[in-house]
Parts: sequence; structure tokens; C-alpha cells
Amino acid sequence: MGGLQRLAVLTSGGDAPGMNATIRAAVRAAAAHSIETLGIMDGFKGLLAGRFEPLDERAVAGILHRGGTILGTARCLDFMSHETQLRALAELERQAVDALVVVGGSGSQQGSLALHSLGFPVVGVASTIDNDLPETEITIGFDTALNTATSYIDRLKDTATSHHRAFIVEVMGRASGYLALLTAIATGAELAIVPEREIALSAIADDVQAAYARGKAHYIIVLAEGATLNAHELADYLSQHPCGFEARITVLGHVQRGGSPSARDRIFASRFAAAAVEALVGGRRGVLIGWRQGGIDEIPLALAVTQATKVTADMLALADVLAR
Ligand code: F6P
Repeated sequence: MGGLQRLAVLTSGGDAPGMNATIRAAVRAAAAHSIETLGIMDGFKGLLAGRFEPLDERAVAGILHRGGTILGTARCLDFMSHETQLRALAELERQAVDALVVVGGSGSQQGSLALHSLGFPVVGVASTIDNDLPETEITIGFDTALNTATSYIDRLKDTATSHHRAFIVEVMGRASGYLALLTAIATGAELAIVPEREIALSAIADDVQAAYARGKAHYIIVLAEGATLNAHELADYLSQHPCGFEARITVLGHVQRGGSPSARDRIFASRFAAAAVEALVGGRRGVLIGWRQGGIDEIPLALAVTQATKVTADMLALADVLAR
């Protein structure tokens, strides 16, 4: 186990279902190596405020199935500053922490990278409902959020069919259209509007009209929140250019972030967190635990936080074909 005696874990950025399963697995995997774990409350904000709580195996009992994060989370824009990062290092040293596990998405892993660059042992665990970290195919929370969005759109389809309406359903995903596109495929939506593909209002109206003429009973548009078009602009356009279906808007919003994690998210959370502890025990740091080519992988943080979309032309084309 080398010099690793005390580990700290924090959850950061938007919460994601499965974060609790990650915390639990990190604590228990560390305990198996006789490593003590401290939980840091409210992400990097709590780190700067010195808010550390001891976590043993019993402290993480009963949380595997719970959404949210028992540690709390926060967005901490201050952490971009070098001076703030040095203060964080001083806190970690003051608490005699030997290594840190950061559970979060892209912004959070930029914080991990900053601490790693300053020489502190950090390993990240990929967790965000957006699944917008380019080098890992899986991020904890995405599967649950996708299932949540799918189940709500299934319900919307019932009422859309009864009333012969179009629904514009806005889903989360930050700048990425991946969650929206997969939701569109999973629900058989008529159209996915994502930041990765520009589409003119007139082209949308034409497609809605053509679907109506083909006898479709409804028209579901899954709109990624990061798309250039906004839901109200689109609804207004459709009401000014009648195309058969009257349009309604539903913003799914933060319901996508809550709820009990799916079995799949629990399993990946457990495996990723255990792999994070193993990486640190093995002296490896500055990596993000994610999933590549059928297995758990340790991705250099500098690579993990780059921007590249997972939305492919093939998947967009599939969504379009299946919507006929
Ligand atoms: O990154 C997760 C996420 O839910 C995004 O999909 C969304 O854009 C953002 O967080 C919302 O953030 P907040 O909860 O701070 O409003």
C-alpha cells in the first residue's frame, strides 16, 4: 500500500445518480487496504472551507440505492484560480490526506487536473448525467438520467397521441447533445435537435407537416438544452406556421438528475470507485477512471477533460430513419 494511509473523497458539479454508490465503494475498497477515508462536504467549496468528515464502512451503509450525494456537491468557479488551488492543497496537507478521489464531470475533473499538476495525488471518477467526457464511453449517472427521460417521454407520448399534438421536450446535457440523441432513439422521437447539428426552423416545420400528412398521431421533438434553437422560439414558429399538430413544451429539467440509480449505474459506480482506489494504491495518479473498449481504463486527466462530442453522424441518421 506504500504511503497511502488517508484518502479523501469528494463529489463535485451537478449531482448524478450513482454518486452515493461511488462513495460507498471508495470507502469500502480503501478499508480493505486499511486506508482511512475522509469525506469532503460540498465538493471543492467544502475542501477550501476544511469541511472533512470521517467515513467508515458503517457510515456508508444504506446509500447504494439513493440518488444525490450524501457528501453534498457544489459548483466552485473560484477553483479555476491558482491561488485557490494552493489553498486547497494546504487544506489537504492540514488534514494529513495522502490522496484524493474526485467524483464528477468535466468541470470537476479540471479541478482534479489542477491539483495533480501541483503534485498532489488525485484520481477522478467519471460521473455526470451528460456523458460529455470524450474519452470514457460511460459516466456514472447517465444511464439513470436516460431512463428517467425515456420514461417521462413515454408518458408524454400517451397524451400527445390522444390530442394529436407535437411536444417539444427539452432535456439536459450542457453543451452536448448525447443525452438528447439517445433519449430520442430510446423513445422513438420524431426529431432530435442537438448542438452538433444545425437545423432551420422551416425544415422542422416541413418535417412536422410531412409527418402529419403521413398519418402520424403525434410528433415528439427531443431538444437538447445546449442547442441553438430554444423551445419557445420553436413553439412560436410552429404556431405561426400551422403544420397539423399543435405544439406544447415540456422542460424535463432537474428531475433527470434525481432518483435511485439504475442497477447499471450502481455496478459501474462500484467498479469505478474500487478501480480508483486500486490506482492510488498502485501509485498511479492524475488519471480519470472510465470505460474504454469494453473495460475499465485509467485515462490521463489532461486527455479526459478535452472537448469532443460523442454524437456521431451515424447515430443521428439512425434516429432520423427510425422516426419515419
Ligand atoms: O452537468 C449536469 C447538468 O445537469 C447539466 O445537464 C445542466 O446543464 C447543468 O448540470 C445544470 O446545472 P445546475 O444544476 O447548476 O443548474
